[in-house]
Amino acid sequence: MTQSALAYTPEVEQETAPIREKMGPVLDERRWERSAPYIAAINKLKKEKNAVILAHNYQVPEIFFGVADITGDSLKLAQEAAKSDADIILQAGVYFMAETSKILNPDKTVLIPSLEAGCSLASSITAADVRLLREKYPGVPVVSYVNTTAEVKAETDVCCTSSNAVQIVNALGVDKVIFLPDEYLAKYVASKTDVQIISWKGHCEVHERFSAEYIRELRAEHPGLTVLGHPECDEDVLAECDYVGSTAQMADYVEQKQPPRLVLITECSMSDNVYAANPNLEFIRPCQLCPHMKTMSLQNILESLQNMTHEVLIDPAVSKAALGSIERMLELSK
Ligand code: 13P
Ligand code: SF4
Repeated sequence: MTQSALAYTPEVEQETAPIREKMGPVLDERRWERSAPYIAAINKLKKEKNAVILAHNYQVPEIFFGVADITGDSLKLAQEAAKSDADIILQAGVYFMAETSKILNPDKTVLIPSLEAGCSLASSITAADVRLLREKYPGVPVVSYVNTTAEVKAETDVCCTSSNAVQIVNALGVDKVIFLPDEYLAKYVASKTDVQIISWKGHCEVHERFSAEYIRELRAEHPGLTVLGHPECDEDVLAECDYVGSTAQMADYVEQKQPPRLVLITECSMSDNVYAANPNLEFIRPCQLCPHMKTMSLQNILESLQNMTHEVLIDPAVSKAALGSIERMLELSK
């Protein structure tokens, strides 16, 4: 059910003023006036239904600052999902993240506002592919990036995220692992460990668009630029970066080091969100959108809470098997 636009009333203006404050310069007035009534309605409904909204760092500022209870990278969202005492978890992110929340909370209702929220990494490999890899490399443990389906996680020994991949691989204490599905993250991990890495050919369709040449051009155009990159980029791109880390690690770096002029080589809403918290810094903002993350909107979040759509359901046997690989990751990242 699509609803007609909600009105920006004086009550809504007053109620949402503290949220407007947090977004600072990243939202113009017209966009704010369109968003505020939805923000007010979602926050009210969340309370009534005892729902919590988990939003990934790539969500637009209206969602990230406006309605999210927890924000962060994939690791933090999984950790928080594991602790949640809400009745409903709404995932403002992509489908594999919602599946992770459901696997960790099989008795709760987990909602994703759009079924279009896929991921090029998650769709690059199937459970049957993992079984074939195991046959080819008997006895070699399988480490899967969380950007995978529940079925793939069910065939996995331990999951990892971009913030703990090196730590997890080292913690296994073996000399060889199958690391899937991100070929570039696998190369990054291989550069940081002595463990031999057998990789897969999956790529993030957003991070693979960046090139080393593009970063060199940015540096030439913006003297004194600090370049932060996500490890889903290829190695020649990462070689041009001053710092490599997960989305949360990049945000922490900015908070702590306050580089006066910087660029985040990752999805572009991330720059808006970090800039809103650090308006004193000069952000160069290349815009690479993740089409899947961008299927989330205030409108479909409100509809999702109103109509309880779309509920994430996972075969219980798959969910139980996948839980082991996620719990092992959470244990090893403590
Ligand atoms: P992190 O937020 O864990 O760094 O992951 C990035 C990403 O692409 C999620 O889809
Ligand atoms: Fe997947 Fe890349 Fe989008 Fe993250 S940014 S959800 S890895 S396609």
